[in-house]
Amino acid sequence: MAYETLRLQRRPPLLTVTIDRPRALNALNRQVFDELLRALAADAKDAETRVLLLTGGGERAFVAGADIKEMAQLTRAEAEARSWRGMHVYDAMRQHPKPLVAAINGYALGGGMLIAMACDIRIAADSAEFGYPEIKLGIFPGTGGTVLINRLIGPAAARAICLLGERFSAQRAAELGLVNQVVPKAELGQAAAAVCDRLAGYSPLTVRELKRALNAALEQDFDAARAIEVEAYGRCFDSEDRAEGMRAFLEKRPPVFRGR
Ligand code: CAA
Repeated sequence: MAYETLRLQRRPPLLTVTIDRPRALNALNRQVFDELLRALAADAKDAETRVLLLTGGGERAFVAGADIKEMAQLTRAEAEARSWRGMHVYDAMRQHPKPLVAAINGYALGGGMLIAMACDIRIAADSAEFGYPEIKLGIFPGTGGTVLINRLIGPAAARAICLLGERFSAQRAAELGLVNQVVPKAELGQAAAAVCDRLAGYSPLTVRELKRALNAALEQDFDAARAIEVEAYGRCFDSEDRAEGMRAFLEKRPPVFRGR
């Protein structure tokens, strides 16, 4: 089935997913959520892709948040159901067996900042703007947005961002640890491609298990996270890729990882 709100470009080892509703600054409506879930499920079964790059269509926005026109019509029960649906999408991104890189090419507001935070690596154009403006609408980022930002950047900055609703620059986002790299807008594609290339060169099995351990560290308590870490580490240790990585080091050559 074709996608209407997403543009997919599959060039193994890379899958590029563009959220493509530029006239609404790529706002997240129900269809975007549904199509993202479908694209992630299809990519999880694709043995040839190793990295997913996520960006926004058009010149101005990564994602300007939830679709306010759609949200304005919702009842309380529908709004709560939408929250769970959104969380399901962000969970699917974090739990995707391959790394996700966000190329943040413009506004990353509300649900747009959340979608960026659900990626593994975030690279922003110097012109991008961030923020949780929901408070101006009489709501707050209730799609898991308070929880995730607290865990990613710590409670003091998270509180100010949620309560003040101010937009802030890519540079500020980098200072807060919310993005990993800021580049001139014209260099965003190249910078994101370089990170994707690096990730694609590592063992897909190791990357998958490492993401599992990192997710556990974010989501579970100390002992549970450590138990998952050791188990995920054991799986890496049992792999052909681990043997290849260590053999390649000893033979002073680059490793060739096959995901086994
Ligand atoms: N939902 C729906 N449509 C949106 C949108 C959104 N989040 N953001 C922008 N648009 C639409 C505008 O309505 C406008 O469409 P029309 O031409 O049909 O009127 C078009 O995109 C261009 O936007 P503007 O004319 O507003 O552009 P601007 O340059 O004046 O302002 C902006 C840009 C500052 C990003 C402004 O559009 C804005 O503030 N957008 C809303 C941002 C926001 O509040 N996001 C949070 C949403 S709530 C949320 O995300 C909740 C959650 O997850 C739990």
